[in-house]
Amino acid sequence: MTVGRPGGLRWPGGGGWGGLYRGDVVFTELDHVAIAVRDLDAAVAWYRDTFGAEVAHREVVERDGVEEALLAVADSYVQLLTPTRDDSPVARYLGAKGEGLHHVGYRVADCAAALDAAVAAGARAIDAMPRPGSRGTTVAFLHPKAAFGTLIELVQE
Ligand code: CO
Repeated sequence: MTVGRPGGLRWPGGGGWGGLYRGDVVFTELDHVAIAVRDLDAAVAWYRDTFGAEVAHREVVERDGVEEALLAVADSYVQLLTPTRDDSPVARYLGAKGEGLHHVGYRVADCAAALDAAVAAGARAIDAMPRPGSRGTTVAFLHPKAAFGTLIELVQE
């Protein structure tokens, strides 16, 4: 059996994992797990009533057409995400797939360097360059089709 790369591409030389990546470990923390919901207030209330989780930060990110509520879990967050307009990517996601896990955000020391290294190793960038995220972070997204089906966000604080 051939060891496959995400997206069906094969590693050069048919080798296993780590064929191209030559840097240090990129992820420093799990930054957040993002969950797409239709009703942000209802989701916030459910997490509070079910788990005692409180909102640490809430923000509208106009550029992405989303409002998010961050629930702190140790040094990471659960990010509840809802669209603020019908043409936002999260609105399209909800229409196609319904509520649920939307993306995973990994904290990195240097978003630009992490993005370059990931693309050099075969990942597919959605953002060609890092851009502003919420909380004053710098972020870049990697395409799920080349990442075993998971939308990945690189987050630099
Ligand atoms: Co995110």
